[in-house]
Amino acid sequence: MTDAMQVVLAKRPAGDVTADCFRQETVKLPAPRDGEILVRTRFLSLDPYMRPRMTEMRSYTPPFELEKPLTGGSVGEVVESNNPRFARGDAVIGMLNWATHTLHDGRGLRKIDPSIAPLSAHLGVLGMPSFTAWYGMKQICKPKAGETVFVSAATGAVGQVAGQLAKLAGARVVGCAGDDDKCAWAMREAGYDACFNHKTEREPGAALDRLCPQGIDADFENVGGRIFHAVFERLNNFGRVAFCGAISEYQDQKPMAGPPKMFTIVQRRLTIQGFIISDHISSMGDFISEVGGLLKAGKLKSRETVVEGLARAPEAFMGLLRGANFGKLVVKVG
Ligand SMILES: NC(=O)c1ccc[n+]([C@@H]2O[C@H](COP(=O)([O-])OP(=O)(O)OC[C@H]3O[C@@H](n4cnc5c(N)ncnc54)[C@H](OP(=O)(O)O)[C@@H]3O)[C@@H](O)[C@H]2O)c1
Repeated sequence: MTDAMQVVLAKRPAGDVTADCFRQETVKLPAPRDGEILVRTRFLSLDPYMRPRMTEMRSYTPPFELEKPLTGGSVGEVVESNNPRFARGDAVIGMLNWATHTLHDGRGLRKIDPSIAPLSAHLGVLGMPSFTAWYGMKQICKPKAGETVFVSAATGAVGQVAGQLAKLAGARVVGCAGDDDKCAWAMREAGYDACFNHKTEREPGAALDRLCPQGIDADFENVGGRIFHAVFERLNNFGRVAFCGAISEYQDQKPMAGPPKMFTIVQRRLTIQGFIISDHISSMGDFISEVGGLLKAGKLKSRETVVEGLARAPEAFMGLLRGANFGKLVVKVG
């Protein structure tokens, strides 16, 4: 038997997520049965998509179950194996419980080489968020030299990579973030041409008029809501929107209306495409070779926020929904 500390969903949130939505408990896990492995979590990724999963709304992933541990993309170490695909000591990545240990059947877990990069990077700049940025920018935004590309949540796990890829394609890149230090980093380190603070800038439209005088050719949309409305009005003919997420709307109890004047889509011949990265796993190899190469060549910068200890995961997750993280948010579990 192994003692595992885990965090369960105690209550579904109504509006903002609160601490009483989570409960921490210790359970005893039996030894792995035939085909199973016991994995010790090293890093747990906290991601915005977890917020919709806390409710029962229809989505592309099923809701978290009440009184069961939440789950998340994680890197772990196999500590016991009764599965021929895995050996004790293997480093693995995949969905694990918000827990110190998870008993797993191995499906959906893959081994990673811990010598390539720090373990947490496999959840960030070499993992799902970066893959999302790469896919949306390359396949949907398709920036050309001289065009203007806008990226919201410009320094988040996805946005920081999206902005740099647009810059490498020769575009003029403008972003927004919720903090002056984040904006300064975006311009100094990630190469954004401009970045505005969406918390202090009263009117996003005015900021966009100032910073994107030629309009916007492509939008990598992470935030939705009033920022997207302002972007939508300023899209140029044949503009492209990679609709990646709408974090500003995830805690809303009443759905937000879309931008007015949808006929704009026709008038300006816009392409607005939602996408979910798990539909594109077959492109993972191309992503790793291209983005891994950029990283190796020192052409891609990344930031992460590491929170120590699983007990702090709920607080860190609530912070993510307010923008307290700077770059990819991970919890160092053990
Ligand atoms: N489609 C897909 O397959 C896919 C995959 C991964 C992620 N996503 C989506 O991509 C988006 C970014 O994800 P991520 O992993 O980069 O997240 P992240 O690193 O956790 O960053 C999220 C950032 O969003 C900003 N934010 C939060 N609330 C906001 C609000 N009300 N208004 C404006 N900005 C707000 C905050 O930064 P500031 O300080 O800048 O406000 C926060 O740090 C999310 O919408 C997520 O759901 C989609």
